[in-house]
Amino acid sequence: MDKLKLLLVLLALGLAVGTSAQIVKGSLADEGGNIVNAHGAGIMHYNGRYYLFGEIKTGNTWLVAGQQWEDYRVPAGGVSCYSSKDLQHWKYEGVALKPTVGDTSSDLDTSRVIERPKVVFNSSTKKFVMWMHIDKKDYSYSQSGVAISDKPAGPYHYLYSVKPNGNMSRDMTLFKDDDNKAYLVYSSEQNKTMQVCLLSNNYLSPTKTFSRILIGRNREAPALFKSGHKYYLITSSCTGWSPNAATYAVADSPLGPYREFGNPCRGKGAEFTYQAQSTFVLPISGKPGQFIFMADRWNKLDLPKSDYLWLPLKVNGNTVSIAGD
Ligand code: GAL
Repeated sequence: MDKLKLLLVLLALGLAVGTSAQIVKGSLADEGGNIVNAHGAGIMHYNGRYYLFGEIKTGNTWLVAGQQWEDYRVPAGGVSCYSSKDLQHWKYEGVALKPTVGDTSSDLDTSRVIERPKVVFNSSTKKFVMWMHIDKKDYSYSQSGVAISDKPAGPYHYLYSVKPNGNMSRDMTLFKDDDNKAYLVYSSEQNKTMQVCLLSNNYLSPTKTFSRILIGRNREAPALFKSGHKYYLITSSCTGWSPNAATYAVADSPLGPYREFGNPCRGKGAEFTYQAQSTFVLPISGKPGQFIFMADRWNKLDLPKSDYLWLPLKVNGNTVSIAGD
């Protein structure tokens, strides 16, 4: 091959990598060549960098005895953080929230459940605030936990957990609106109905303002995002670690009411969200209308081997579409 041809091939390869840069189908490596361990993840964009937070899953997977469902677990590993300027090169920032060992009364004990951590920045208090699902191994605790830090990557200091307004909260997400109000969205009422609760101005506690949404619809794995003036909520059905069909709903306010639509996924594998489950939708900074749909491909029999699916997501009015191919 002459030099010009080689140059053209390299350029084409570079463009291909560039355009598919945010697509992830499988595991993801950090800059040190280690596998990114961040499940049920979310991303915060702050000061020109993307910060990825997720569940650390290590160790052997076991089935919790006496449950009516496939309650596969690994020890709660705390929350990891990675950062990137371009969503391609990820720097490992370390453990953002450490678990505690040997204190079963602690929310963060390795015998517990720490899932779906999400972080937002509070511009009045200048604090970074993390909310997460805190549970016991049989999922009977059903609380939301909160932690705080002065720095984006942490370390985060755990404060407490709560049932917002006395209501159960399991799978959850956090959403910060353009007016700086923040909301906790969670599966509640035995996973039958979701709730959206406005947080206090410092984002550290639930307020009494909350709504019940997707009533009786049995949804979980919420991912809430805004496009234009509308709010879009992607959820999964409740089938544990096994994949199912995603659906989405649209509202004029984070608190709803939400109008339900069907499955945003298109093409082969859409009925099972391409074997994945939603965790977050990331707006791409500086590119209005462009998003990344982030999902987990759970490996229930060996949970640390779970990996990721990140796909481009498009919005056109009330239509949300995700293409798997
Ligand atoms: C899923 C949920 C996960 C995890 C799992 C436990 O339904 O979305 O975050 O809680 O159940 O089985």
